[in-house]
Amino acid sequence: MFGARCLLRALRSCTSAPCPRHKPSARLSVRDALGARSTNGERVKVQGWIRSVRSQKEVLFLHINDGSSLESLQVVADSSFDSRELAFGSSVEVQGQLVKSPSKKQNVELKAEKIEIVGNCDAKDSGFVHIHTPIITSNDCEGAGELFQVEPSSKIKVPEENFFNVPAFLTVSGQLHLEVMSGAFTQVFTFGPTFRAENSQSRRHLAEFYMVEAEISFVESLQDLMQVMEGLFKTATMMVLSNCTEDVELCHKFIAPGQKDRLEHMLKNNFLIISYTEAVEILKQASQNFTFTPEWGVDLHTEHEKYLVKHCGNIPVFVINYPLALKPFYMRDNEDGPQHTVAAVDLLVPGVGELFGGSLREERYHFLEQRLARSGLTEAYQWYLDLRRFGSVPHGGFGMGFERYLQCILGIDNIKDVIPFPRFTHSCVL
Ligand code: 4AD
Ligand code: MG
Repeated sequence: MFGARCLLRALRSCTSAPCPRHKPSARLSVRDALGARSTNGERVKVQGWIRSVRSQKEVLFLHINDGSSLESLQVVADSSFDSRELAFGSSVEVQGQLVKSPSKKQNVELKAEKIEIVGNCDAKDSGFVHIHTPIITSNDCEGAGELFQVEPSSKIKVPEENFFNVPAFLTVSGQLHLEVMSGAFTQVFTFGPTFRAENSQSRRHLAEFYMVEAEISFVESLQDLMQVMEGLFKTATMMVLSNCTEDVELCHKFIAPGQKDRLEHMLKNNFLIISYTEAVEILKQASQNFTFTPEWGVDLHTEHEKYLVKHCGNIPVFVINYPLALKPFYMRDNEDGPQHTVAAVDLLVPGVGELFGGSLREERYHFLEQRLARSGLTEAYQWYLDLRRFGSVPHGGFGMGFERYLQCILGIDNIKDVIPFPRFTHSCVL
């Protein structure tokens, strides 16, 4: 989460115009630097983000990555450089000599003569506040009725009929609680267990899974939201690749050959955007026969999602603006027609299908009031409606399933293989 903000800030402060203070030395991408044949002390310039910092008595080792390669470039600097400024996530421009590395771990390394910080990355000021949202809740955020009810075991006597006076459930999402907190902090996130009583034994559904959710105030377009989602996916993946190299390589080598290249392809390219309506058109024209016939107004199935990602060249694709009737009450009405849609966004990724689900939220009191009334939820969600009465702002957010994320980056086909104690229909072992 912090990484995503760092990346966005760093991108904003980057410029492609040449900097007048520097003599022009050859600018190389990390990939080109790593693949350099001649290392005869040629002066080069490399720009990227710091992925790790190791400080020794007389020397400082940095690993720099710019997204052009899964491998990072080792930069060796003497102790006169201030290691406190060179923090994980900061963007830097390093000038120096490309030399043969004495270590067997890499062929070349960059001997730094000058390191300039382009954008600082201080986790404390990156703005996302971690909120611990409750596991037991009295609301059904997604409105799908896939709830596990929480009650004391029958042996425990409780004076009231319900322990909490109201029916209580295991959470299906921390979103509504995040929305409360986003009235006080502009950027909040939560990461915790989530429970869904979905009667599914599929390769991508669990009854208990982890979800990272973010909520951002003053967001007015899906574009802004998608930028954070893409930033989160790419930054988190780069961090995993540089901090858990051996584990990832093990999976890529023995379980999912070719996954390293597929992942590099995802990281290198800008994610694509299509509308739900376009997605249905693509599916209708597909030569493939689907089990579920694609039709406007009907939800996309896994087979459809996987086809769409393939159709888009195996680059993750955002599908936006879904039919209002398919989505929960909190999504913002696009006020379009005749096909009525909401500002929803799902990110589909190769091998898995839907990885993120998010939307702009309906912040307009009267619109929300009507939606709640239509679903018979007015009374239960009075507190949620009240949030729109007291200083409400446009806002939006998303959730990413953690186990599906692991499936996607590691290339693991079945979600039950990325969690030590999978819970699903008819199975709750231990
Ligand atoms: O699309 P979903 O249902 O979105 C929400 O819950 C929103 N309230 C999130 C938000 O906006 N704050 O779920 C988000 C993601 C899905 O895209 C998927 O990756 C994962 O959670 N997910 C599951 N993962 C494993 N097993 C299940 N049964 C899952 N259901 C959803
Ligand atoms: Mg969803």
